[in-house]
Amino acid sequence: MGKLLEAKDLTLGYPSGDVIKDLNFVVDSGDLVCVVGPNGAGKSTLIKGLLGLIKPRHGEIVYHNLVQKFIGYMPQETKVDANFPASVEEIVLSGTLNKSGWRPFYSDEQRQKASEALKALRISSLKDRHFSDLSGGQRQRVLLARALAATSKLLVLDEPSNNLDSSSRRDLYGNLKKLNQEKGLTIIMVTHDLDHKNLIGNKILSLRTKPYFYGSTEQYVQEVHRV
Ligand SMILES: Nc1ncnc2c1ncn2[C@@H]1O[C@H](COP(=O)(O)OP(=O)(O)O)[C@@H](O)[C@H]1O
Ligand SMILES: [Mg+2]
Repeated sequence: MGKLLEAKDLTLGYPSGDVIKDLNFVVDSGDLVCVVGPNGAGKSTLIKGLLGLIKPRHGEIVYHNLVQKFIGYMPQETKVDANFPASVEEIVLSGTLNKSGWRPFYSDEQRQKASEALKALRISSLKDRHFSDLSGGQRQRVLLARALAATSKLLVLDEPSNNLDSSSRRDLYGNLKKLNQEKGLTIIMVTHDLDHKNLIGNKILSLRTKPYFYGSTEQYVQEVHRV
């Protein structure tokens, strides 16, 4: 297995001030980490830091055997407008653009990657449909496939279950567990869902209390988060 990335005394924030201070954690290859904490705790800020969209104000993020631009990312608010006139296939293909910058045509390798992502999420049959014609649950699968097409190592998701009904949420969590277990994909998922059975990962990072909690899900449920 081995380390994939680590935060060392990491401080992140904005000109208005620090949001996350002196955070330390190690993500091993194969982990599924749930990041929890109340609104405004800095969960999305941490994701921006991991993706390199903001720079550490102190400390560092160390990537082991992982290139930052090959992280697959599913944002909190989808940038794909529900009325955007693009097919499912085009949206998933666009996930591969991080590797090459914009190009008028996609390579065979990119098409292959998109096709594998569609297959992994069992939505190949939707590939010619328009995004705007899909249900909320189907859209979520397309956006997950798009993030998957961008990576073979690390998927980062910011509150992917927001606005999903409970059956779409179960479907999403099932897909994430499968990608983690069967494809060995490492996943970092921000979640607002504190229901124990939905803490689907093996590890929890909680920004709720200081010092921050980082450890196994069992330890978190037993020692930190009692209902
Ligand atoms: N671009 C920004 N500029 C300044 N402050 C920001 C910016 N984005 C977020 N913040 C502030 O940082 C804090 C953490 O925000 P965020 O990381 O979005 O929290 P969470 O995702 O846990 O709800 C909040 O107080 C928020 O107002
Ligand atoms: Mg957020």
